[in-house]
Amino acid sequence: MTTAHQPVELEELGPEHFTQARAPRVYDCLLGGVDTYQCDRDAALDLYMAALWAALAARTNRHFTQTSTAAALRLGIRQFLDLGCGLPNRPNLHHLVPHRKPVVYVDRDPGVLAHAKCWLDPGPPYKTAVVAADLTDMRELLARPDVTGAFDLSQPIAVTVHDVLPWNEDDTTVTDAIAVLRGWLPTGSTLSITHLTDHFNAHTVPKAVAVYERHGITVRPRSPDQISAFFGGFTHLGSGLAAVSQWSAHGPNVYHFTPYPARASDCAAFAGIAVKT
Ligand SMILES: C[S@@+](CC[C@H](N)C(=O)[O-])C[C@H]1O[C@@H](n2cnc3c(N)ncnc32)[C@H](O)[C@@H]1O
Repeated sequence: MTTAHQPVELEELGPEHFTQARAPRVYDCLLGGVDTYQCDRDAALDLYMAALWAALAARTNRHFTQTSTAAALRLGIRQFLDLGCGLPNRPNLHHLVPHRKPVVYVDRDPGVLAHAKCWLDPGPPYKTAVVAADLTDMRELLARPDVTGAFDLSQPIAVTVHDVLPWNEDDTTVTDAIAVLRGWLPTGSTLSITHLTDHFNAHTVPKAVAVYERHGITVRPRSPDQISAFFGGFTHLGSGLAAVSQWSAHGPNVYHFTPYPARASDCAAFAGIAVKT
């Protein structure tokens, strides 16, 4: 476990930290967060002009953590791994689970980690850890003592990978990493993934991708087949792979009310929650 409220070591981040838009901060901006710089706000505005659904998509995605955590709790799962946790934004995952149940947050972005160490590792009654790691090296990540030591590996774990994989463009690397994760998880674990796609919105998603590119950020939407493959042989819960806003714990074609009811084309992403059986 890290020490709560460690100082933010800005000098380690370099000048481009302040001048170059970063994906987690643009996302935070779309969510109405304040952990952003002018470069991020410029990127978010350009994004919004190209794709009016961008802010709604971010909110719908963020809300899905509540949906996936509720689904895992209903299955009796009491340990949580949040891969690519992003900047803190209430409610964070540890606010959604019973006190003293382990929640491990992982991210690779030094700016995210600085904030995460302050806000995502508050100490008792929470039992959280913040781990600096890159999920593309999944074997190394899962071998770390601050990950293995946090969990009882004889019990299931709920893993969230929400809007993380699109920021990793190499398909083979991502596919291999998620396969390693699936192999490592104890039986009964859940894997929840949300992922950008142009399936619902072939016109504006490419425009959004181009805006990110202009701001120095590479993002890779993937097809339903590619996203579906990340779940391997796991058994889908509820409606199965569906638009994030339309995923329902109760089965296909049942509208799941969220505070951000959005059309599939307005969330531009798929969601799935599947169990290792
Ligand atoms: C858009 S944010 C999503 C945050 C959060 N998961 C959510 O859904 O609200 C994406 C986060 O994934 C992190 N990320 C992307 N690729 C990663 C990787 N290979 N390893 C670790 N973190 C990664 C980014 O640094 C960023 O903080």
